[in-house]
Amino acid sequence: MTTMRHALDAGARRLAAAGIATARLDARVLLCHAVPCPPETLVGHGDRPLGSAAAARFDAALARRQAREPVGLITGQRAFWTLDLRVTAATLSPRPESETVIEAVLSRVRDRQAPFRLLDLGTGTGCLLLALLTELPSARGLGIDRSAAAVATARRNARDHGLDARADFVVGDWATALGGAFDVVVANPPYIPSGMIEGLEPEVARHEPRAALDGGVDGLDAYRAILPELPRLARPGSIMALEVGEGQAPWVAGHLADLGFAVVAVVPDLAGIGRVVLAQAPEAPKISLGLAPDVR
Ligand SMILES: C[S@@+](CC[C@H](N)C(=O)[O-])C[C@H]1O[C@@H](n2cnc3c(N)ncnc32)[C@H](O)[C@@H]1O
Repeated sequence: MTTMRHALDAGARRLAAAGIATARLDARVLLCHAVPCPPETLVGHGDRPLGSAAAARFDAALARRQAREPVGLITGQRAFWTLDLRVTAATLSPRPESETVIEAVLSRVRDRQAPFRLLDLGTGTGCLLLALLTELPSARGLGIDRSAAAVATARRNARDHGLDARADFVVGDWATALGGAFDVVVANPPYIPSGMIEGLEPEVARHEPRAALDGGVDGLDAYRAILPELPRLARPGSIMALEVGEGQAPWVAGHLADLGFAVVAVVPDLAGIGRVVLAQAPEAPKISLGLAPDVR
């Protein structure tokens, strides 16, 4: 019977041979998932035997990873902000750069206790809405996705984190069937130009849902649908935080300005790419909900 350490070493070699840059890290996560055990186990207890059932699970997980399936899809979990979220084949695995949306919104909120109404368009796992609800304890939110399977996953994520009393999720085509006004609108719609998808890393091109990626010829189709809806969804002073692809921020910011929003900033991600267009509806609210004032 092999030990945990030997299994880890062999697994890391296998993934490295498949060209995976993060081979050892991925092997460690997959081994801990197969056992299952906390990651610390591998530090002090590498000589522990690996049972045959766990070894078989590890082997199957390595085979999926060799086929470039993302680690989060194999384990069914992905970390986002402070949350561990379920991911499925129907949901985009939340990406670190999308945390820029959360930071951008929080940078404009003065009173985190205010009873904000939040809207998340294209919610996927629910990551953006749920992360915001953890930071804004009196807020309530609505997440919309065209995929019923994604909505089911988002609901489970809300339940897992005790946020389901404040989070509703519905199947819908952007905001077309929605009425009402929101204090915060976030969106991370599909924005990859169709012709670029095949050239993305295999983890994304082969395994992420096409409906979460494909933004049409220039990547901006979803924004052509979403942007005209925003004025009727906004309250005076509402915050809009919209994730965009590389080079798309000026187009989205320009259209927001044409619609009468004040563009506050284009917020870069950790790679320095303009990732979030942050805008605010023009007039200060009559009854302050704790939002920072318009900065025009
Ligand atoms: C890039 S993913 C973002 C998922 C999640 N918000 C995140 O940040 O990880 C885009 C999401 O938009 C959804 N979507 C695509 N077209 C849509 C439409 N017409 N109406 C509503 N949601 C749509 C996809 O199903 C997908 O879940």
